[in-house]
Amino acid sequence: MLSKELLEEFRELKARHDAVVLAHYYVQDDAQDLADFVGDSYFLAQKAATLDCKTLVFAGVEFMAESAKLLSPNKRVFMPEPKADCPMAHMLRKETVDEARAKYGDDLAVVCYVNSTNEMKAWSDVCVTSSNAKRIVERLEEHHILFVPDQHLGHYIQEQVPSKHVLLNDGFCPTHEAIDVREVTELKEAHPGAVVCAHPECAAWVLEHADYIGSTSGIIERCVSGTEQDFVICTVHGVLHEIKKQVLAAGDDGRKRFYFPRTTPICPNMAMITGEKVVACLRDLSGEVFVDERFAEGAQRALERMLELAG
Ligand code: 13P
Ligand code: SF4
Repeated sequence: MLSKELLEEFRELKARHDAVVLAHYYVQDDAQDLADFVGDSYFLAQKAATLDCKTLVFAGVEFMAESAKLLSPNKRVFMPEPKADCPMAHMLRKETVDEARAKYGDDLAVVCYVNSTNEMKAWSDVCVTSSNAKRIVERLEEHHILFVPDQHLGHYIQEQVPSKHVLLNDGFCPTHEAIDVREVTELKEAHPGAVVCAHPECAAWVLEHADYIGSTSGIIERCVSGTEQDFVICTVHGVLHEIKKQVLAAGDDGRKRFYFPRTTPICPNMAMITGEKVVACLRDLSGEVFVDERFAEGAQRALERMLELAG
């Protein structure tokens, strides 16, 4: 917990810099508690694009803060932990895109999960997040879709939109891919009737066991609104903080129980982001995000197309 003095300083710094704090559900609980808005990556991108303020502090990994900067270039954007990066964001080679474009020509769209570098976004036609990927792929005119960089989300989208031909890349999230299907089935056996909620970055053999598949916000909403008692959650443990808050606010009687796989899914990069670092970043105005000019225009175009097509 942050001290009273630190909280007081934080409020004063926020007012001085006309700052809004955005946080993803995977960062440390005390960083989530300082945020004006906590959400999934689509919600946070939309917020960044529409908020009226001079400064944004983005408690999330690099691709999230960079997307915020691209969607709101007139704001100063800061990262409390500039080393927080998403490994999957680097898992694509340009040749994969070039080969697919050469083979399928105008009937191919390159669909880039926001968990990607700006350079990759600039190679692509449109960005997506887990909460809008299905809708956007359905709306594209092209029949062939090269889905990058996440193979598991790409595979899930192929199942959801069978009318399209989805080509997969070999990227993956190390945290979600490590979710062990045996640990999920053990939980199901121990808690018959439990609702299994999974993020689509999980491998297909985990998703097969899911009753609900969706983004972090979708999973939280399913757990809070569901009338069931037991929930097995296959995503990063950080979502539990918001689930507990919302369940409490809904006046729950303590009946609901939430289980994560025994090997707790933690995103080591998101976990570096603490409340103290959020305050320090505003105090020192450190960790400012600057986008490489070579990729800014192309990446911005792909992100803005996402906002248009998802709406
Ligand atoms: P969401 O868009 O569901 O918040 O997911 C972001 C992410 O990085 C999941 O690992
Ligand atoms: Fe990247 Fe996985 Fe962490 Fe999400 S959970 S930010 S995909 S490493």
